[in-house]
Amino acid sequence: MLHPAWWTIDPCARFQLGPRIFPGRIWTASGCFAYGLTGHDMTSDDVASPYSGLGAVVTKTVTPLPRSGNPMPRLVETPHGALNSIGLENVGFEAFLAEVLPELEERGVPTVVSLAATNPGEFGAMAARLQECAGPLGCWHGVELNLSCPNVAEGGHDFGKDPRTVAQCVAAARSHLPDRALLAKLTPNVADIAGLARAAAEAGADAVSAVNTFVGLEVDLATGKPILPRRFGGYSGPALLPLALAKVDEIVSRTGVPVVGAGGIATAEDALKFFALGAVAVQVGTAQMRDPFTAARIARDLGKQG
Ligand SMILES: Cc1cc2nc3c(=O)[nH]c(=O)nc-3n(C[C@H](O)[C@H](O)[C@H](O)COP(=O)(O)O)c2cc1C
Repeated sequence: MLHPAWWTIDPCARFQLGPRIFPGRIWTASGCFAYGLTGHDMTSDDVASPYSGLGAVVTKTVTPLPRSGNPMPRLVETPHGALNSIGLENVGFEAFLAEVLPELEERGVPTVVSLAATNPGEFGAMAARLQECAGPLGCWHGVELNLSCPNVAEGGHDFGKDPRTVAQCVAAARSHLPDRALLAKLTPNVADIAGLARAAAEAGADAVSAVNTFVGLEVDLATGKPILPRRFGGYSGPALLPLALAKVDEIVSRTGVPVVGAGGIATAEDALKFFALGAVAVQVGTAQMRDPFTAARIARDLGKQG
Protein backbone atom coordinates (compact mmCIF):
# COMPACT_ATOMS: atom_id res chain seq x y z
CA MET A 1 0.00 0.00 0.00
CA LEU A 2 2.72 2.44 0.94
CA HIS A 3 4.78 1.64 -2.15
CA PRO A 4 2.45 1.56 -5.16
CA ALA A 5 3.95 0.76 -8.57
CA TRP A 6 4.18 4.39 -9.66
CA TRP A 7 6.11 5.38 -6.53
CA THR A 8 9.77 5.13 -7.48
CA ILE A 9 11.23 8.02 -5.51
CA ASP A 10 13.11 7.78 -2.24
CA PRO A 11 11.86 10.85 -0.32
CA CYS A 12 14.92 10.67 1.93
CA ALA A 13 17.33 10.90 -1.01
CA ARG A 14 18.92 14.18 -2.00
CA PHE A 15 17.11 16.18 -4.66
CA GLN A 16 17.67 19.45 -6.45
CA LEU A 17 15.34 22.40 -6.09
CA GLY A 18 16.53 25.48 -7.96
CA PRO A 19 20.19 26.04 -7.18
CA ARG A 20 20.13 23.89 -4.06
CA ILE A 21 20.40 20.21 -3.16
CA PHE A 22 18.00 19.29 -0.34
CA PRO A 23 18.55 16.19 1.80
CA GLY A 24 14.95 14.99 1.31
CA ARG A 25 11.38 15.69 0.33
CA ILE A 26 9.54 15.43 3.66
CA TRP A 27 9.58 18.81 5.38
CA THR A 28 7.87 20.40 8.35
CA ALA A 29 5.59 23.38 7.65
CA SER A 30 6.16 26.89 8.93
CA GLY A 31 4.79 27.67 12.37
CA CYS A 32 4.22 24.04 13.32
CA PHE A 33 7.67 23.05 14.61
CA ALA A 34 8.67 26.42 16.10
CA TYR A 35 12.09 27.49 14.81
CA GLY A 36 13.21 23.89 14.44
CA LEU A 37 15.19 23.78 17.68
CA THR A 38 12.68 22.29 20.09
CA GLY A 39 12.82 18.64 19.06
CA HIS A 40 16.36 17.71 20.04
CA ASP A 41 15.58 16.29 23.46
CA MET A 42 12.47 14.39 22.38
CA THR A 43 12.42 10.62 22.33
CA SER A 44 10.11 7.98 20.92
CA ASP A 45 10.14 4.22 20.66
CA ASP A 46 10.01 3.94 16.89
CA VAL A 47 12.01 6.80 15.33
CA ALA A 48 15.39 8.06 16.48
CA SER A 49 14.45 11.74 16.52
CA PRO A 50 11.89 14.20 15.12
CA TYR A 51 14.56 15.18 12.59
CA SER A 52 15.20 11.67 11.21
CA GLY A 53 14.85 11.66 7.43
CA LEU A 54 13.65 15.27 7.22
CA GLY A 55 14.50 17.23 4.09
CA ALA A 56 13.92 20.59 5.73
CA VAL A 57 12.41 22.40 8.66
CA VAL A 58 10.63 25.55 7.51
CA THR A 59 11.04 27.95 10.42
CA LYS A 60 8.29 29.93 12.07
CA THR A 61 7.80 33.03 9.92
CA VAL A 62 10.12 35.86 10.89
CA THR A 63 9.26 39.54 10.38
CA PRO A 64 11.59 42.58 10.24
CA LEU A 65 10.72 43.55 13.84
CA PRO A 66 9.71 41.30 16.77
CA ARG A 67 5.96 40.70 17.11
CA SER A 68 4.03 39.66 20.20
CA GLY A 69 1.16 38.25 18.16
CA ASN A 70 -2.61 38.50 18.51
CA PRO A 71 -4.66 38.48 21.74
CA MET A 72 -5.73 35.13 23.24
CA PRO A 73 -7.31 32.80 22.42
CA ARG A 74 -5.27 32.15 19.29
CA LEU A 75 -5.95 28.51 18.61
CA VAL A 76 -9.29 26.72 18.47
CA GLU A 77 -9.65 22.99 17.89
CA THR A 78 -12.57 21.87 15.75
CA PRO A 79 -13.62 18.28 15.04
CA HIS A 80 -11.68 18.13 11.76
CA GLY A 81 -8.97 20.76 12.06
CA ALA A 82 -7.57 23.74 13.90
CA LEU A 83 -8.27 27.42 13.56
CA ASN A 84 -5.39 29.74 14.44
CA SER A 85 -4.83 33.43 14.70
CA ILE A 86 -1.31 33.56 16.09
CA GLY A 87 -0.51 36.87 14.43
CA LEU A 88 3.04 35.94 13.45
CA GLU A 89 4.50 36.08 16.96
CA ASN A 90 8.26 35.90 16.49
CA VAL A 91 11.57 37.11 17.88
CA GLY A 92 12.25 39.46 14.97
CA PHE A 93 14.68 39.10 12.10
CA GLU A 94 17.86 40.36 13.80
CA ALA A 95 17.45 38.12 16.86
CA PHE A 96 16.68 35.22 14.52
CA LEU A 97 19.91 35.85 12.60
CA ALA A 98 21.99 36.25 15.74
CA GLU A 99 20.57 33.48 17.92
CA VAL A 100 18.42 30.99 16.04
CA LEU A 101 20.06 30.44 12.66
CA PRO A 102 23.55 29.74 14.06
CA GLU A 103 22.10 27.13 16.41
CA LEU A 104 20.18 25.45 13.60
CA GLU A 105 23.48 25.27 11.72
CA GLU A 106 25.34 23.91 14.73
CA ARG A 107 22.73 21.18 15.18
CA GLY A 108 22.78 20.33 11.49
CA VAL A 109 19.09 21.06 10.89
CA PRO A 110 18.33 21.51 7.16
CA THR A 111 16.59 24.86 7.19
CA VAL A 112 14.28 26.94 5.06
CA VAL A 113 13.79 30.40 6.53
CA SER A 114 10.24 31.72 6.34
CA LEU A 115 10.04 35.49 5.91
CA ALA A 116 7.11 37.88 6.04
CA ALA A 117 7.11 41.57 5.28
CA THR A 118 4.63 44.25 4.38
CA ASN A 119 6.05 45.30 1.01
CA PRO A 120 8.45 44.01 -1.65
CA GLY A 121 11.27 46.31 -0.53
CA GLU A 122 11.29 44.77 2.94
CA PHE A 123 11.47 41.29 1.46
CA GLY A 124 14.45 42.37 -0.62
CA ALA A 125 16.21 43.91 2.37
CA MET A 126 15.69 40.79 4.50
CA ALA A 127 16.96 38.52 1.73
CA ALA A 128 20.06 40.69 1.29
CA ARG A 129 20.82 40.66 5.01
CA LEU A 130 20.27 36.91 5.21
CA GLN A 131 22.70 36.31 2.38
CA GLU A 132 25.21 38.66 4.00
CA CYS A 133 25.02 36.99 7.45
CA ALA A 134 24.29 33.38 6.57
CA GLY A 135 25.91 32.96 3.15
CA PRO A 136 28.56 30.52 4.45
CA LEU A 137 26.06 28.30 6.33
CA GLY A 138 25.72 24.83 4.85
CA CYS A 139 22.39 23.87 6.45
CA TRP A 140 20.54 26.95 5.27
CA HIS A 141 18.96 25.75 2.04
CA GLY A 142 16.41 28.35 1.15
CA VAL A 143 13.82 31.00 1.83
CA GLU A 144 10.05 30.70 1.82
CA LEU A 145 8.21 33.97 1.36
CA ASN A 146 5.03 33.98 3.43
CA LEU A 147 2.83 36.06 1.16
CA SER A 148 -0.34 35.96 3.26
CA CYS A 149 0.15 39.18 5.18
CA PRO A 150 -1.57 42.56 4.83
CA ASN A 151 0.32 45.02 2.66
CA VAL A 152 0.48 48.09 4.87
CA ALA A 153 1.90 50.24 2.09
CA GLU A 154 -1.05 49.55 -0.19
CA GLY A 155 -4.04 49.96 2.10
CA GLY A 156 -3.75 46.76 4.12
CA HIS A 157 -5.18 44.29 1.62
CA ASP A 158 -3.77 40.77 1.56
CA PHE A 159 -1.03 41.34 -0.98
CA GLY A 160 -0.42 37.68 -1.52
CA LYS A 161 -3.65 37.62 -3.52
CA ASP A 162 -2.33 39.91 -6.22
CA PRO A 163 -0.09 38.27 -8.88
CA ARG A 164 1.67 41.55 -9.58
CA THR A 165 2.65 42.00 -5.92
CA VAL A 166 3.64 38.34 -5.61
CA ALA A 167 5.98 38.86 -8.55
CA GLN A 168 7.44 42.02 -7.03
CA CYS A 169 8.16 40.30 -3.71
CA VAL A 170 9.77 37.29 -5.38
CA ALA A 171 11.89 39.44 -7.68
CA ALA A 172 13.06 41.61 -4.77
CA ALA A 173 14.24 38.54 -2.81
CA ARG A 174 15.60 36.60 -5.81
CA SER A 175 18.18 39.18 -6.74
CA HIS A 176 19.90 38.65 -3.36
CA LEU A 177 19.69 34.86 -3.22
CA PRO A 178 21.83 33.47 -6.03
CA ASP A 179 22.53 30.07 -4.49
CA ARG A 180 19.56 29.33 -2.24
CA ALA A 181 16.17 27.90 -3.15
CA LEU A 182 13.44 30.52 -3.21
CA LEU A 183 9.85 29.46 -2.55
CA ALA A 184 6.69 31.55 -2.56
CA LYS A 185 4.08 30.29 -0.12
CA LEU A 186 0.66 30.84 -1.59
CA THR A 187 -2.66 31.58 0.01
CA PRO A 188 -5.46 29.23 -1.08
CA ASN A 189 -8.04 31.97 -0.48
CA VAL A 190 -8.14 33.04 -4.12
CA ALA A 191 -10.05 32.04 -7.24
CA ASP A 192 -6.92 31.54 -9.35
CA ILE A 193 -4.02 30.03 -7.42
CA ALA A 194 -2.37 28.92 -10.67
CA GLY A 195 -2.10 32.58 -11.68
CA LEU A 196 -0.21 33.32 -8.45
CA ALA A 197 2.11 30.36 -9.03
CA ARG A 198 2.85 31.47 -12.58
CA ALA A 199 3.61 35.02 -11.43
CA ALA A 200 5.95 33.72 -8.73
CA ALA A 201 7.83 31.43 -11.11
CA GLU A 202 8.17 34.08 -13.80
CA ALA A 203 9.67 36.43 -11.20
CA GLY A 204 12.27 33.83 -10.25
CA ALA A 205 10.79 31.50 -7.61
CA ASP A 206 12.14 27.96 -7.82
CA ALA A 207 8.89 26.53 -6.43
CA VAL A 208 5.70 27.47 -4.68
CA SER A 209 4.51 26.09 -1.36
CA ALA A 210 0.81 25.32 -1.47
CA VAL A 211 -1.14 25.81 0.62
CA ASN A 212 -1.24 28.14 3.58
CA THR A 213 -4.35 28.06 5.78
CA PHE A 214 -7.91 28.68 4.57
CA VAL A 215 -9.88 31.53 6.13
CA GLY A 216 -12.19 30.15 8.81
CA LEU A 217 -14.36 31.21 11.74
CA GLU A 218 -15.68 29.35 14.78
CA VAL A 219 -18.61 30.50 16.93
CA ASP A 220 -18.91 30.14 20.71
CA LEU A 221 -22.53 29.11 21.16
CA ALA A 222 -22.57 30.29 24.78
CA THR A 223 -21.93 33.90 23.73
CA GLY A 224 -23.11 33.71 20.13
CA LYS A 225 -19.84 35.38 19.09
CA PRO A 226 -16.75 34.30 17.16
CA ILE A 227 -14.25 32.61 19.49
CA LEU A 228 -11.21 34.31 18.02
CA PRO A 229 -10.88 37.99 19.04
CA ARG A 230 -10.12 38.88 15.40
CA ARG A 231 -13.15 36.84 14.25
CA PHE A 232 -11.31 35.03 11.46
CA GLY A 233 -8.44 32.60 11.65
CA GLY A 234 -6.48 30.25 9.44
CA TYR A 235 -7.98 26.78 9.18
CA SER A 236 -5.61 23.81 8.95
CA GLY A 237 -5.42 20.08 9.64
CA PRO A 238 -7.13 16.93 8.31
CA ALA A 239 -10.10 18.70 6.69
CA LEU A 240 -7.71 20.50 4.35
CA LEU A 241 -6.39 17.44 2.57
CA PRO A 242 -8.82 17.31 -0.40
CA LEU A 243 -8.90 21.11 -0.65
CA ALA A 244 -5.12 21.35 -0.73
CA LEU A 245 -4.85 18.48 -3.22
CA ALA A 246 -7.21 20.34 -5.55
CA LYS A 247 -5.13 23.52 -5.32
CA VAL A 248 -1.90 21.61 -5.95
CA ASP A 249 -3.45 19.85 -8.93
CA GLU A 250 -4.58 23.17 -10.34
CA ILE A 251 -1.05 24.58 -10.12
CA VAL A 252 0.73 21.51 -11.48
CA SER A 253 -1.65 20.84 -14.36
CA ARG A 254 -2.03 24.46 -15.46
CA THR A 255 1.50 25.78 -14.95
CA GLY A 256 4.02 22.99 -14.38
CA VAL A 257 5.58 25.12 -11.63
CA PRO A 258 7.26 22.88 -9.00
CA VAL A 259 5.04 22.62 -5.91
CA VAL A 260 5.86 21.78 -2.32
CA GLY A 261 2.51 20.47 -1.12
CA ALA A 262 0.97 21.16 2.29
CA GLY A 263 -2.44 20.82 3.88
CA GLY A 264 -3.82 18.10 6.08
CA ILE A 265 -0.90 15.69 5.84
CA ALA A 266 -0.76 13.34 8.84
CA THR A 267 0.26 10.00 7.32
CA ALA A 268 2.45 8.53 4.60
CA GLU A 269 -0.68 7.89 2.53
CA ASP A 270 -1.65 11.56 2.74
CA ALA A 271 1.82 12.61 1.58
CA LEU A 272 1.75 10.09 -1.28
CA LYS A 273 -1.38 11.74 -2.68
CA PHE A 274 0.52 15.01 -3.14
CA PHE A 275 3.41 13.17 -4.80
CA ALA A 276 0.93 11.38 -7.07
CA LEU A 277 -0.21 14.76 -8.34
CA GLY A 278 3.36 15.85 -9.05
CA ALA A 279 4.45 17.68 -5.89
CA VAL A 280 8.25 17.71 -5.57
CA ALA A 281 8.17 17.71 -1.75
CA VAL A 282 5.61 17.97 1.06
CA GLN A 283 5.26 19.81 4.36
CA VAL A 284 3.64 18.51 7.54
CA GLY A 285 1.91 21.20 9.60
CA THR A 286 -0.83 20.75 12.18
CA ALA A 287 -0.14 17.02 12.62
CA GLN A 288 3.42 17.93 13.60
CA MET A 289 2.10 20.07 16.45
CA ARG A 290 0.11 17.17 17.85
CA ASP A 291 3.03 14.74 17.48
CA PRO A 292 6.48 16.15 16.56
CA PHE A 293 7.56 12.76 15.20
CA THR A 294 4.90 12.74 12.46
CA ALA A 295 7.11 13.99 9.62
CA ALA A 296 9.95 11.66 10.61
CA ARG A 297 7.54 8.71 10.61
CA ILE A 298 6.25 9.67 7.17
CA ALA A 299 9.85 9.82 5.90
CA ARG A 300 10.53 6.40 7.38
CA ASP A 301 7.33 4.87 5.99
CA LEU A 302 7.85 6.23 2.48
CA GLY A 303 11.59 5.58 2.43
CA LYS A 304 13.17 2.80 0.43
CA GLN A 305 13.35 0.55 3.43
CA GLY A 306 9.91 1.59 4.75
C1 LIG B 1 -0.49 27.19 14.65
C2 LIG B 1 -0.09 27.42 13.23
C3 LIG B 1 0.85 28.42 12.93
C4 LIG B 1 1.23 28.65 11.62
N1 LIG B 1 2.15 29.60 11.37
C5 LIG B 1 2.56 29.82 10.09
C6 LIG B 1 3.58 30.77 9.81
O1 LIG B 1 4.16 31.40 10.71
N2 LIG B 1 3.92 30.97 8.52
C7 LIG B 1 3.35 30.26 7.47
O2 LIG B 1 3.73 30.48 6.32
N3 LIG B 1 2.42 29.33 7.73
C8 LIG B 1 2.00 29.09 8.98
N4 LIG B 1 1.07 28.15 9.24
C9 LIG B 1 0.47 27.38 8.11
C10 LIG B 1 1.15 26.02 7.92
O3 LIG B 1 2.52 26.18 7.64
C11 LIG B 1 0.49 25.21 6.79
O4 LIG B 1 0.69 25.86 5.56
C12 LIG B 1 -1.00 25.02 6.99
O5 LIG B 1 -1.32 24.85 8.36
C13 LIG B 1 -1.55 23.84 6.20
O6 LIG B 1 -0.93 22.63 6.56
P1 LIG B 1 -1.52 21.63 7.69
O7 LIG B 1 -2.95 21.37 7.37
O8 LIG B 1 -0.64 20.40 7.59
O9 LIG B 1 -1.37 22.32 8.99
C14 LIG B 1 0.66 27.88 10.56
C15 LIG B 1 -0.27 26.88 10.86
C16 LIG B 1 -0.64 26.64 12.17
C17 LIG B 1 -1.63 25.55 12.46
